[in-house]
Amino acid sequence: MANFLIEGENRIGGELPIHGAKNAALPILAAALLTRRSVLHNCPDLSDVRAAAHILEHLGCTVEREGDTVIVESDDGVYCDIPDGLMREMRSSVVFLGAILTRCGRARVSFPGGCELGPRPIDIHLASLERMGVNIKEDHGDLDCTIDGKMVGTELNLPFPSVGATENILLAAVLAEGTTVIHNAAREPEIQDLAGFLTAIGAKIHLKNDGTIVVEGVETLLPEVEYRVIPDRIATATYLCAAAATGGELLVTKTEPEYLAAVLPMFEEMGCQVKTGPDLIYLKGPRRLRPVRMVRTMPYPGFPTDAQAPFMALSTLAQGTSVFVENIFESRYKHAAELMRMGARIKVEGRVAVVEGVPALHSAQVRCTDLRGGAALCIAALAAAGVSRVSDIAHIERGYERLEEHLSSLGAKITRE
Ligand code: EPZ
Repeated sequence: MANFLIEGENRIGGELPIHGAKNAALPILAAALLTRRSVLHNCPDLSDVRAAAHILEHLGCTVEREGDTVIVESDDGVYCDIPDGLMREMRSSVVFLGAILTRCGRARVSFPGGCELGPRPIDIHLASLERMGVNIKEDHGDLDCTIDGKMVGTELNLPFPSVGATENILLAAVLAEGTTVIHNAAREPEIQDLAGFLTAIGAKIHLKNDGTIVVEGVETLLPEVEYRVIPDRIATATYLCAAAATGGELLVTKTEPEYLAAVLPMFEEMGCQVKTGPDLIYLKGPRRLRPVRMVRTMPYPGFPTDAQAPFMALSTLAQGTSVFVENIFESRYKHAAELMRMGARIKVEGRVAVVEGVPALHSAQVRCTDLRGGAALCIAALAAAGVSRVSDIAHIERGYERLEEHLSSLGAKITRE
């Protein structure tokens, strides 16, 4: 396993163009099964994206990368099963289910397990697909899914606006018989981007402001598409946290400030200066951060759960107490114990965490527990006195493209061990 060695107390600043969004690229790569040739620009080079490419290759597609462009080609011979090994490589491989069912009329995938964030059931995915006419049989840890004829459009009320379930339903509904209406659907920008890709290949999708999505099934989809993936809002927030934690000055470009409407005011509450432009965000960190009264993670457009850990790292250095309530995942505070090795003061009680800020952190040996938790440890190490060793960085490489290269270009002293 590789580690990062990070020497702290260096201001992070300068200009950084942000890469494409992991959580948009993954469902769009699954959707590439519904057409013959997809040219995806701004597709981030991440281990999760490579895992999705492995799944597409296993299903019979060819996948080529040229810089930040990925080209997916599929002909008639598409398979419809994903072996356990590939499913476990990436938790969100479950979104291939809807695409394979639409492409092949049947699918066999292994049941996705839990992950570092606690239990991750897919009951909403399965219940919705069953309502659309899919027969689902559990068979020795696998899900064997078949359809008699075509999937059928129907009215769905999701008990929770699940991102993954909304994506699977969209992928299942585009060629279904009739109209699918999804009430209480997820509204994340990544959902809008998947709908944008599907519309670009001829799907009929209407996103309403109240979280309702209407999909009119069509007969066929277009064989070719060229599409640009949206910028990564969580990577944007993470780099801004690195600048704020070190009193730096950063301009993030090629990003979308609107996607961070629930996040930017938190930076201001903590004493940062924030300015935005059409596709850029400027932030200047204060000499000493102020606490953030309350961070409640919510489905979009609320505060994103994926930014909770980076913000917690920031709040460990604030002059006062910050409170976090994690409403999306059951156990998404594993980074707290690691931050406490660096001198942070954090109390976790179920879904609530209380962070009492300290004047300074010190270096330590810390271990990434998950993707965003790993990013939080890097932010803390950038601010801490001394050299920290951050291990198990494979977690970080799932969601951040060339993190150490970008941080070095912004003034960080970071090396890979
Ligand atoms: C997506 O995960 C993201 N992953 C996650 O980002 C993100 O944290 C999450 O949405 C919430 O925003 C990708 O897009 C690849 P959900 P997903 O279905 O689709 C429960 C990162 O760091 N639930 O909205 O798995 C579930 O257990 C990752 O980039 C059910 O109970 O999220 C969870 O508590 C981490 N039954 C909550 O809903 C279901 O059938 C949110 O899950 C589905 C979900």
